[in-house]
Amino acid sequence: PEPGWSLTADVVVVGSGIAGLTTALALRSHVESVLLVTKTVLDEGSTAWAQGGIAAALAPEDTPEEHLHDTLVAGVGVCDVDAVTALVREGPGRVRELVALGAEFDRGPDGEILLTREGGHHRDRIAHAGGDATGREISRALIAALHRVQDDPGIRVVEHALVVDLLQDADERVCGVTLHVIGEGQVDGVGAAHARAVVLATGGLGQVYGATTNPSVSTGDGMAVALRAGAVMADLEFVQFHPTVLWLGADSGGQQPLISEAVRGEGAVLVDAAGERVMAGVHPMGDLAPRDVVARAIVARMRATGSDHVYLDARHLGREKLERRFPTILAACRSHGIDPVTDLVPVAPAQHYASGGVAVDLVGRTSLEGLWACGECSCTGVHGANRLASNSLLEGLVFAHRIAQDVSDRLARGELPPTTPAPPDGESGVLLRPRHRHAVQQAMSAGSGAVRSAGSTAATAATLAALAADADAAGRTAGPRAWETTNLLHLGRLLTHVAGLREETRGGHVRDDFPRRDDEHWRGHLRAVRGPDGT
Ligand code: SIN
Repeated sequence: PEPGWSLTADVVVVGSGIAGLTTALALRSHVESVLLVTKTVLDEGSTAWAQGGIAAALAPEDTPEEHLHDTLVAGVGVCDVDAVTALVREGPGRVRELVALGAEFDRGPDGEILLTREGGHHRDRIAHAGGDATGREISRALIAALHRVQDDPGIRVVEHALVVDLLQDADERVCGVTLHVIGEGQVDGVGAAHARAVVLATGGLGQVYGATTNPSVSTGDGMAVALRAGAVMADLEFVQFHPTVLWLGADSGGQQPLISEAVRGEGAVLVDAAGERVMAGVHPMGDLAPRDVVARAIVARMRATGSDHVYLDARHLGREKLERRFPTILAACRSHGIDPVTDLVPVAPAQHYASGGVAVDLVGRTSLEGLWACGECSCTGVHGANRLASNSLLEGLVFAHRIAQDVSDRLARGELPPTTPAPPDGESGVLLRPRHRHAVQQAMSAGSGAVRSAGSTAATAATLAALAADADAAGRTAGPRAWETTNLLHLGRLLTHVAGLREETRGGHVRDDFPRRDDEHWRGHLRAVRGPDGT
């Protein structure tokens, strides 16, 4: 679409979760002007929904090396060791900085931060806030910090701004974004934000599936704009399905209530309808095995018993502990007529996290000059095939600082001088109608979801190709729903393609027809760019 207005800044940061807010705040001390744009309002994304907490070796008896070990084991052999090393070594200091910034984590009577355990961790290393509202507290603290510098003319925030595409110069260097803004005064409608550097921090793609723990804004916008601009993507097939999502019936779609792993960390167990333990004899860590192992065991038990859910039994934790530790989860369950104090909680796996995304190096640089990516939309390699619980907030935090340092160093050296965008290639106006969103989600859940096969991914690919053939040249009149739906289609097609290629089962990628891990052929990454046929 033709931009109707334009803004200019040194750096545009797209997204306002922990990754985007931390990047913008860290950059502000070093560059002249930062523009932070976000699709709805500042605290609407996945960060604010994070329950369990943020993992870091904060306990005196814990070490970054043990955190490294647990992360690598959970990632099933395909983590980038250097990236994980940066994560676990820098993590504790960055969490302490977050505390200094004002984030209030739960503390014990001695004043020390309370730490709990989640799947795959051999130590108590999950810091939490408000019991099970960790992300909301982190988001609050970061937004409060942003408001404290809001009078600073060097930092500007534009809300209700959907990123439509990247601007690139004749050498394909990224030099800004096009945005669709609703109701922000002089920058209403489609416009351009010109910048020397762009940082994508737009979160995940959960809405590509029919059921997800992700909020409705998680439509993979940052990944999709990078993909269309030619960026290399990595590990897209490694989609994490959270084992314990409140089961609300087969027809329930969209964002589903998460039941944090921390509930199992405090002692809850998984049982089937006959009361048999689901994790008995499956893994030495039992109910606290890595997330992919637990999700697979649940799917196997559901198949064996002909059921579409199992149960979480937390009743023995008692009313006082449940209400103190898990107020958010109790409120969600009770609003659906289930009281974890007295009832078994029906749960089933649902999409939760994209372990892959835009491929980046140790300082968040993508394959496109001028473009960085941070947090869930990126693939640093720290998660491998299956993200360790509560490493996602930590990744956003640690890599945001690395990116801010790299971007400001490069700008200070006079690199990436202002440049002129080349005209768009025409594809940005070709959009899928919003009414096809449901069909995309159904096809993805059916064929590229928790369990896949050659046949299922081929069927999904065919459905998505047929939908793509129905895309329109909608031009400027298109609205955010059409852009989002198009982003879901583009990501769904590539994800399905790589899920069909990887002929093994590893981490979040589960193949019915290749049920075993195959280190001989598949211990590596699938890196992909978008092909001419759209996959
Ligand atoms: C949870 O609380 O179970 C989710 C934490 C995470 O996704 O890391």
